[in-house]
Amino acid sequence: MSNNEYSYNNLINNFPIISDQMTKNRLEIILKNLSITLDNKVNGDIVEFGCYNGTTSLFIRRLLNVIDINNRQFHVYDSFEGLPPKTIKDASVAGTEFKAGELKTSKRQLIKNFKKAGLKTPTIHRSWFDELKEKDIPNSIAFAFLDGDFYYSILSSLNLVWPKLSTNGRLVIDDFDKSNLPGVTRAINDFFIGTDQRVIRQDDLAVIVKS
Ligand SMILES: C[S@@+](CC[C@H](N)C(=O)[O-])C[C@H]1O[C@@H](n2cnc3c(N)ncnc32)[C@H](O)[C@@H]1O
Repeated sequence: MSNNEYSYNNLINNFPIISDQMTKNRLEIILKNLSITLDNKVNGDIVEFGCYNGTTSLFIRRLLNVIDINNRQFHVYDSFEGLPPKTIKDASVAGTEFKAGELKTSKRQLIKNFKKAGLKTPTIHRSWFDELKEKDIPNSIAFAFLDGDFYYSILSSLNLVWPKLSTNGRLVIDDFDKSNLPGVTRAINDFFIGTDQRVIRQDDLAVIVKS
C-alpha cells in the first residue's frame, strides 16, 4: 500500500460519513483519484459542484491537509436550496423520486460541520450552477467532483469546469449509469460525444482524465 493509499484509507476508517449521500466505497474512489492527481503534480485548484452539507468535502479537505504541499484552494458550489425541478431529461422509472427542494441544507450548516471537524472552511459559492460566472471558477482546476444529480446540473458544471481543467486533471462524477438518475449519464454522453475523452466507470462514478 502506498503512503497516500494509507492516508485516505486511514481517514475513511477514522472519521464519520455524516450523511447518506456518500458510501465508503465511492469515497475511497474519489480520494484515490484526488491523490493520484496530486501525486502527478497536476496544476490547479480543487472544486466540488453540489457540496450539500459537506459529507465528501470534509474528506477532501482532510486529504488535502495530509498530502497537498502546494496549498491549493478548495471551492465548493451549491444552491443551498436543494435540488432544482426535474426536467424531461431526468425522466426515469423512479417517477416521483427526487423532488425539487430535496437535499436542502444551509451554508451555515456547512460551515458548522467544518468548524466542528476542526477543518478550514472551503470557499463557498451559493448559487444555481447556471447562474455562475466564469470569474466564480478558479482559473486552473486539477480535480473536480460533480454531484448535481440532474441533467442540467451536470451539464452546467461540466461547461464551467472543463475549459479550466488542466491536462491530466481529473473529473469524478457521481451517479453514473444509475437508472433512477438517468440525467447524469445523458449529460456526460452529450458533453463528450464526438471527443476522444474516455469515460471510465468506477462503482457508481464516472472518472475522466483530461487528455
Ligand atoms: C447529492 S447532493 C450532493 C452530495 C454531496 N456531494 C456530498 O457528498 O454530501 C446534490 C446537491 O447538489 C445541489 N444541486 C443540484 N443541482 C444544482 C444546481 N443546478 N445548482 C446548484 N446546486 C445544485 C443540491 O442543492 C444538493 O445539495
